[in-house]
Amino acid sequence: MVAKALEVRPLTETFGAEVLGVTLSGEISPDTLAEIKALWLRYGVLLFRGQAMTKDDQVGFSRLIGPLEIHIRAEWLNDTHPELLQITNIRKDGKAIGALADGEVGWHFDQIYLPKPAIGSLLYSIKIPPVGGGTHFADMTTAYARLPQHLRQIVDGRNAIQSYVAFNTMYSTDANATQTTMTPDIAHPLVRTHPYSGRRALYICPGMTVKICGLPDDESRAVLDELFAWQARDEFVYRHDWALGDGLLWDNACTMHRRDDFDGAHERLMYRTTILPQPDRAIPF
Ligand SMILES: [Fe+2]
Repeated sequence: MVAKALEVRPLTETFGAEVLGVTLSGEISPDTLAEIKALWLRYGVLLFRGQAMTKDDQVGFSRLIGPLEIHIRAEWLNDTHPELLQITNIRKDGKAIGALADGEVGWHFDQIYLPKPAIGSLLYSIKIPPVGGGTHFADMTTAYARLPQHLRQIVDGRNAIQSYVAFNTMYSTDANATQTTMTPDIAHPLVRTHPYSGRRALYICPGMTVKICGLPDDESRAVLDELFAWQARDEFVYRHDWALGDGLLWDNACTMHRRDDFDGAHERLMYRTTILPQPDRAIPF
């Protein structure tokens, strides 16, 4: 018997899809899992509405996609499930219990600053404000494919410096000295080749990319500003307005994301799992 294909609704012309009729809790059949992985590779962002995942469910499903990263900011991890990074403005004793508590957060790739950056993230909404706090995604495969020739000549074959310190400074996140030492600035190619699909995508972001290697500082600054403006063009962007129970699984190799501001009088709580590439296999499926 041929397995029934999952129903999908594309979110934009080039990337992103809502996947219908899938429950990410409990057992997931091998056929369904294989299809989800293929859709994730094809679309870059998958939306699963109306989920009712426990912490175990979120961790368990994420592990089916790849090994999970434990974030270095231990103070933001869930007490019982350290695989869950809390992203929230909820405070305990005056201190936020999660990452990126308040306000707007600019374009970035999760963990672009690590030697082996994440390949995916699954963000699940637990509490959301009535308005605001939306998450925008940008399709960096298409941004690279449509890149003007003069920029393509600069980015191909070149590295850029990625800095978690710069990000923490920008958002005043109070990383301690040990954490800062654990995340020195690092160079990655400006164009990331996807380890599973082989597709090429722009791999820079205003939140963490501070310098193009091999260019004088002023030229690097000018090119980065041009690239940042290019990669955030509306033609590459999907904006997600959250509902409770939404799960968003995205591809960190070929999409970047940012968050809208929201009214801090309302609590917002999300759990994120961060998914690493499979260490020993080119194709994990
Ligand atoms: Fe993020």
